[in-house]
Parts: sequence; C-alpha cells; structure tokens
Amino acid sequence: MNKQTLTLCAFLPFAASAAKFSVTSKPFGKVDGKPVALYTLTNESGAKVSITNYGGTVTSIIVPDKDGKMGDVVLGFDTVAEYVEKSPYFGCITGRYANRIAKGKFTLDGKEYSVATNNDPNHLHGGLKGFDKQIWKARVGNMGDNPNLTLTYTSPDGEEGYPGTLNNSVTYTWTQDNALRIRYKSTTDKPTILNLTNHSYFNLAGEGSETNLQHRIKINAEHYNPIDATSIPTGIAPVEGTPFDFRKSTQIGKRIDEENEQLKNGIGYDHNFILKEADDGKMVTAAVVTEPTSGRILTVRTTEPGIQFYTGNFLDDLKGKGGKNYAHRSAFCLESQTFPDSPNQKEFPSPVLRPGETYSQITIYHLGLKKNLKKKKAQTQTERKK
Ligand code: BGC
Repeated sequence: MNKQTLTLCAFLPFAASAAKFSVTSKPFGKVDGKPVALYTLTNESGAKVSITNYGGTVTSIIVPDKDGKMGDVVLGFDTVAEYVEKSPYFGCITGRYANRIAKGKFTLDGKEYSVATNNDPNHLHGGLKGFDKQIWKARVGNMGDNPNLTLTYTSPDGEEGYPGTLNNSVTYTWTQDNALRIRYKSTTDKPTILNLTNHSYFNLAGEGSETNLQHRIKINAEHYNPIDATSIPTGIAPVEGTPFDFRKSTQIGKRIDEENEQLKNGIGYDHNFILKEADDGKMVTAAVVTEPTSGRILTVRTTEPGIQFYTGNFLDDLKGKGGKNYAHRSAFCLESQTFPDSPNQKEFPSPVLRPGETYSQITIYHLGLKKNLKKKKAQTQTERKK
C-alpha cells in the first residue's frame, strides 16, 4: 500500500514490530467549497490525537488521568465551520510569523515590508489569512512504532505581504508514550522572515474545566520579554523578584492578579520567556505543567529559543466541543517560538530565512502522569527488596 492509499483508508491498523497503532481519517466538512479531513492517530494504549488539515489544527488530545480515565486536554470545536468562524487560534499551526510584529512593518535587506495590522496596531499570527486558515496537503505515515501525519503547504511569494515562495512541511508524530512531536521544515526562494508555532490551548483537568489557575507551572527561564501596552517587547529582563519567576513550580493563579504593570499589559501572562541553555537548535525542556486533581503532567521540549506563556486572558465564554463553555483563563498555551517582534529588534535571535537554508524546529508536548513516577519508585523499591 503506498502512502497515498493510506490516507484514503478509513481504518489502518499497523503492526510495526511489537507496538500497534492506527490512523483513521474521516471527512470534516468543507472550507471555501474544498473538503477537509480529520485524522486520528491512536497508539497502543488507546491514547489519541486528532488533527485536521485545515490550519494543521490539533482538535483533540485524549490521554488518561491518574485513575486511567481518558479525557481531552485541548480546547477546540466539533465542526470545521466553527474553526473558520470563531477560533482564537485553537490548536493551529501559526505563521508565517507567529506572535506580533510592531505596527505591521519590518525591513529586510534594506527593503520595507508592510503586513496586516490585524491586532491593532500590530500584526499578529501571520495576518488576515495565515497558515491557520490554509488547507494543507496531508500524508499519513509511520516512524517505526509511531504513527505520523505530514502536512505540506506552499505559501506563494507575497502572500499576506511576506516575501518569497515558502515551502513548508509539518510532521506530527504521536508516540507510544503519549508525546506529540511536531517537526517543522521550511525553505524559501527569496530572503524572508519566519516564526512558526503550534497554538494548542491546554487544560490538563480536561477541556471545558472552569479555570487554569490551579495548574502548577515551571518554566526554564531566567529572563523574559516585558511588553508595552500593545504587547510588543520592550527588551529583556530578569524574572527574579517578579511574578514571572517560574523557576520553581508555582500555581498559575498565585500571582496572576497581583498589582504589576506587566500583568496589566498582558491582562495576565502573555509573555515570551527566554529559555535557559537554548542554543542554536539544541533541544531543551521549556516548561513542565502539573494539574493536581487529574495527576496529568505536560512537559514541553523545544529547539526554539523562546516560549510564549499565554493564560487565555482573551477567552470569554466561547462555546466549544460538546457545547462546553470555555471561560476566561480556562486554558493556557505554551507556544515555542523566536522572540516576538524579532524582525524589528536586532538584539533578538534573527527570524530571517535565506534561499539555500532550511528552517527547522522540533517541539514535543509530552502528556505524562504523576502516578507513573510513584509506580516506578514503588517498583524499584520492590525490585531492590527481592
Ligand atoms: C497571543 C495573545 C493572543 C492569543 C490568541 C497568543 O499567542 O500572545 O495575545 O490573544 O495568541 O490570538
């Protein structure tokens, strides 16, 4: 069976070496008269992730809690029409430039470019019709024991005001131990700028839970980018002595409403954290989030230099999957990225991609459980006693 046929099958049981997995695909409605599909990658344990080729959007991640009960930990909608109509970037691939570019202007090789100011007065997440609103080509495959889905999209020269024809491929791999690995690769035929990310909104207690404030988060950063009142970075500052110090695991809600200019500017946390030890594509642990009632743990690893920690401050009673209410601050995003507004801030890592170079990024969202640690410890102790 070739890869093309695989994508057309309704159910694909693979038996690669010892581990088993399946990939299913089904129609997910139409966008601009064109059909889009929903792909579900299921691993041997029954944990699964669903992704649509509309915007490369992760629509659900279903993993067990500490009692083995499966639950969906990302926000989303049941129909593609709702994604088109009202999605605040739920689960999508965000580009060409994720996050903000001040006043929608940047200069590259002496030429000034203008892009949409769709987040007045700035440019946000690739503009009016960014990568999140494009239909990507999908190809199903496998990486040894793990199912994967590769999405490709060629963005024409000048699309949304950005220079260069950009060839993009994003591969989602769902591993046997419940990690969603996202590998991005892009090339261009003219110098351009680029910053891709995934915009999943997590609530580890299950999507539709009332709040994110009970989660505890540890961020591997000694510095962050303070922002102005329009969310554009004003420089680099130490986290020490501020509510942005997450070097030790701390409840999201502990300091979020403190009297603080930065929290006021972000209406909560909506800031880029500068990852410690990130160096030229080295994979580092960016953040670890734990949720006390479910026992779920999210570990985010990335090759990017920064991560946007956004606490869903602009969510406001949105009707989501199964009619559930997505309230203010009922989810959080951890968006691996280069620093916001980097096209205009020379001291930030460069977002420039030139012909002959390959943009390459890997980000991994691993969904684990506290109880595993306990179990492992208990097992080791029993083994030692034997
Ligand atoms: C931004 C927020 C924005 C959200 C949804 C995040 O990446 O930092 O300011 O509201 O995306 O668009």
